[in-house]
Order: sequence, then C-alpha cells, then structure tokens
Amino acid sequence: MQDIRLGNTVIPNGVMLAPMAGASDYAMRTVCRAHGAGYAVTEMVSAKAMMYGDRKTAALAAVRDGDVPLAVQLFGHDPETMAKAAGLTASGEYAFSSSDHAPAAIDINMGCPAPKIVKNGDGAALMKDTALIERIVSACVRAAEPHGVHVTVKMRAGWNGCRNAPEAARAAEAAGASLIVIHGRTREQMYAPPVDLSVIADVKRAVGVPVVGNGDIASAADAARMIDVTGCDGVAIGRGALGNPWIFREIGAFARNEEYTPPTVRERCLTAISHARLLVADKGERVGVFEARKHFAWYIHGIEGAPACRDRIMRSATLSDMEAAVLELAERYE
Ligand SMILES: Cc1cc2nc3c(=O)[nH]c(=O)nc-3n(C[C@H](O)[C@H](O)[C@H](O)COP(=O)(O)O)c2cc1C
Repeated sequence: MQDIRLGNTVIPNGVMLAPMAGASDYAMRTVCRAHGAGYAVTEMVSAKAMMYGDRKTAALAAVRDGDVPLAVQLFGHDPETMAKAAGLTASGEYAFSSSDHAPAAIDINMGCPAPKIVKNGDGAALMKDTALIERIVSACVRAAEPHGVHVTVKMRAGWNGCRNAPEAARAAEAAGASLIVIHGRTREQMYAPPVDLSVIADVKRAVGVPVVGNGDIASAADAARMIDVTGCDGVAIGRGALGNPWIFREIGAFARNEEYTPPTVRERCLTAISHARLLVADKGERVGVFEARKHFAWYIHGIEGAPACRDRIMRSATLSDMEAAVLELAERYE
C-alpha cells in the first residue's frame, strides 16, 4: 500500500472514505478521520442547486477546519453548469462560512445509479457518453486548475452489456482528471452482486493517473486483495466504514505490518455516542437525532442484545434517550 499524491495533497496508503449521500457527512468524516482516514469525499452535491444559492447545498459542500483534505463531489451533466460549480467551489466563493477551506479536489459523480438521478442525465448516465465526459471534465479542470484544485472522477464499470469504464477513464484522463475511482459494478447492478475486479484492472491498465478501486471492502485483507488482484493504487471504502470507522485503523496497521485489535463493545458504543453528538451539534437535535438512528444501528450491528437496543433507539426522540439505550448495552459487556 502506497500513498497517492495529488499535487501537495497526500492520500495516505491510497485509502479514502467514499462519498455516501445521507451518511458521509461532516460528522462521519470527522469520526473516520479520528480513526485514521486521511482523505474523504463529501456527499454528492448538485451543481445545479449551487447556482440557486441553496443553503443546504452550501452546507454539503463546506470544507471545514479539521475536515481536510476533502474532495467535494459534484453531480450534473451540463458542462457549463458543472464548470461554474467547480469554479465557485475551488475559488472559495461558494464558502458556507468564512473559516471554510479550499477543497483538495472536485470529484465528478459518474456512478450514481438512482433512477431520479440517471433520468436527468446525471450520475451513471454519463457513462453512456464518453464525449460528454471529456467535455465536463475539461470544463471543470479549466475552472478549478487556476485555484490549484484537482479534478477527479468516480465512475462505475458501465452499464450491463457495455462495461466501458476503461474508455470512460481514458476520456477523463485526456480531459485532465488527476485520479479515477472505479466502483466495479454496472449501473443496473446497483450495490448487490460481487464487484468485478477485472474491470478495475482494465481501468488501471488503460490510464496513467492513479486508479482507486472500490466495492465491498470490509477489512484490511479485502483492501490488500483489491490492490493485489487489480494492480490499482488505492481503495475507497463506503459501506465498510458505516458503524466501523476502525476499518481505517485496521488498514493503517496492516500497511505498517502491525497487529490490529478490533474495538470492544464499549468502544463501539462510546464512539457511536460521539458520532451522534457531532451530528446533533452540526444539524440540531431534531435532524441530528433522526439521522443518528441509522448510524447507531450500524455501530451496534451484530452485538448480542443489539436488536432490543436498536428498537429503543428507533423510538427515542432525544439524544440523551439514545445515549442511555446504548450505554445500557455497553454495561452488559463490562
Ligand atoms: C448510502 C449510500 C450513498 C451513496 N452515495 C454516493 C454519492 O453521493 N456519490 C457517489 O459517488 N457514490 C455514492 N455511493 C456509492 C459508494 O461511494 C460506493 O461506490 C459503493 O457503495 C460501493 O462501495 P462499498 O462497497 O465500499 O460501499 C453511495 C453508496 C451508499 C451505500
């Protein structure tokens, strides 16, 4: 495992937290960074919504103190709108608050399979048009480069019957993309069948820029296998980090040839509480408590006694009720 460099930005061991709408927000990124994630990507942000000055959109794209290096992921399909959004973000003009930082990169979403996104020609729909990929990437590079901000892309294998990721990756590279993340599934495959490692290997062979493999990495052994089998330069971790920020510590220990000790039940419960507190501090009690529910469920998944605890959490209306439920579970293991 080796560091990846994007100009002055280092992606330690080539490991990053993948973008996950509704999950990899400021709170999750903060917890993952505390456990060794050296690079992260925001949830996807609508380039079009940015044009309307929407505050919620601005919050999604904010690069706050401590949350660096961070790539801001944009979705859209119109090269001009994408470039405007990339330029605003890279220049800091779009900053949510005065303490915001410039992002390390603008990442372009070419993989979202959700029907409402694809129907609009965004996300994975871009995989159908490599000429458009080239136009979008080059427009974003022209807008971001003067600010020292790189453009990266995140793609899928392609569509069923057309696994054209290598061609799409070449188009992105020719247009100036600095790094390619490839999720080894087609659009139709959504998130279910095993990832196709051969398409990741094909992308790696097709381009000279760093290639990051993605899909189904739930342990350091999985990360090492992805790199060994495909020859890719690094890995992006999505669902494997939900309720498990320790995966970054595990991979770091593996890279240094050190032993890794998984967290105890108490640690899992206490980290879940810290995560929920960050969410509530960031988004307020009502939204924070609502969003914390799923994270608590991920953190306690598989612990004996978790189902009853989860039921209580799902019914809790306050953070303190949730914390009491989780602490009760932790106490059983002391
Ligand atoms: C809840 C959820 C939200 C996601 N949101 C995004 C997103 O906003 N942008 C994106 O490029 N990929 C998104 N993805 C895809 C992940 O980044 C990743 O490619 C995929 O989950 C496969 O990796 P994994 O097996 O490590 O989860 C999302 C995935 C999940 C599960």
